[in-house]
Amino acid sequence: MAESLHIDHQLSKNAKYKQLIPELLSLIGDESNATAILSTVAAVLHESFNFFWTGFYLVNQNELVVGPFQGPVACLRIQKRKGVCGTAWKEEKSVVVPDVDRFPGHIACSASSKSEIVVPIFLSSGEIFGVLDIDSAELNTFDEKDRINLEKLCKYIGAKIS
Ligand code: SME
Repeated sequence: MAESLHIDHQLSKNAKYKQLIPELLSLIGDESNATAILSTVAAVLHESFNFFWTGFYLVNQNELVVGPFQGPVACLRIQKRKGVCGTAWKEEKSVVVPDVDRFPGHIACSASSKSEIVVPIFLSSGEIFGVLDIDSAELNTFDEKDRINLEKLCKYIGAKIS
């Protein structure tokens, strides 16, 4: 049986990632099923940081389709180049949005979402598998610390599911 998580909510952001990533890797263990891994990552990130929405959009032909997530119901499909997710997919790089109202083309699945980060997940073939999308109900939630730590995590996810 999986162990429960022990996240100290008083920790700084960097300290929290430092504690959380190894716990997450140990929870995933030798699991290679994508649904199991993505669901677990979404649950752990969401619970640890109290984000508004935490989940994945997965490449399906020429669209992104929603995958495992935690939070309110969101858009089911996103076109390439559309919104923050479609931009991260097209440009093959992370996108940090301090204020979603200032991101042209942002797709508002909920009016409560104020800032966002989207990080692509690459398979070992170099192909994009999907993106990790996290929304916050507050402005300016995400910065370089999140980008670096979440890219590390997505690199690990990409390797596990390849
Ligand atoms: N805001 C995203 C759409 C997905 S939801 O935030 C869950 C975007 O602009 O791509």
